[in-house]
Amino acid sequence: MIQASYPATRLRRTRNAGWSRRLHRETVMTSADLIWPLFVTSGTGIEDPVASLPGVSRWSVDRLADRAREAVALGIPCVALFPNTPGDLRSEDGAEALNPDNLMCRAIRAIRDACGEDIGILTDVALDPYTSHGQDGLVDAHGYVVNDDTVAVLVDQAINQANAGADIIAPSDMMDGRVRAIRMALEMNGHPNVQIMSYAAKYASAFYGPFRDAVGSGGLLKGDKKCYQMDPANADEALREIALDIAEGADSVMVKPGLAYLDIIWRAKQAFGIPVFAYQVSGEYALIEAGAAAGVGDREALLMEKLVALKRAGCSGIVTYHAPLAARLLNG
Ligand code: PBG
Repeated sequence: MIQASYPATRLRRTRNAGWSRRLHRETVMTSADLIWPLFVTSGTGIEDPVASLPGVSRWSVDRLADRAREAVALGIPCVALFPNTPGDLRSEDGAEALNPDNLMCRAIRAIRDACGEDIGILTDVALDPYTSHGQDGLVDAHGYVVNDDTVAVLVDQAINQANAGADIIAPSDMMDGRVRAIRMALEMNGHPNVQIMSYAAKYASAFYGPFRDAVGSGGLLKGDKKCYQMDPANADEALREIALDIAEGADSVMVKPGLAYLDIIWRAKQAFGIPVFAYQVSGEYALIEAGAAAGVGDREALLMEKLVALKRAGCSGIVTYHAPLAARLLNG
């Protein structure tokens, strides 16, 4: 980099006026950078607030279409769906995940009916919202989450979602080999254009607590997910995960959580030049809300600074519970 010394160079010059700051802005976000996660619950006419996520609710299927219409009106291109499966439908093997009429599939169809092709529908592939033990896969007699048998079920879950109309299959389970298996099954079952956004680098994070409340798996979960989700201390390993998922057929990859893993986003983008997404997870949302409520700073400014950091690090887009607020701010 060639740069004249002071005073020929005064970097404050271009910062001096608002028009100039706008003109020189390197990272520009729009509402098209956002994916809005929505929680679905059973019943009709229901908005059920999630206590640990102030401002976020679970919606019954009949009320979900309005949220999708809201997303379209705000220019948000995609919603991500997560079901809160009724307790009596949860089981050891999570079989409800394969029911073509489960909450997830009904939600997909309701949004498609309401919004047609004006919105992308991303669906989560993992068994935790359906299992009685809260793990993302099948467990053996010792409580160990087994890999290959789980992958077989995840494939069926993914096809079930694609049949219902999902546009992007997003495996968040961190089993080995599931991207290839899902890709092959999508090809063989008439879904060549259904995308896979793999949660390639998903960490065993302390920031998922409110999400587990929202889908009702938190109280059920014994132990942790460290034998399949990544160690927060590891970065080279994340690049190996991402390389594998690309080789297996992922169209895009996700890094999760967001802000604490900016280096992973950056390295993935530099190394592979593929679309990288970040999931600003529930704990991150809750911290912004709690910080704002405690007077740490302005909620909207705190939020937008964190989102632009993710974009600056290399993200094509960000999954965030703050998507509607962020879209309103970005749309002016
Ligand atoms: C599980 C899943 C989790 C999240 C998305 N999918 C939680 C977990 O791994 O236990 C977390 C999202 C969030 O915290 O917002 N398949």
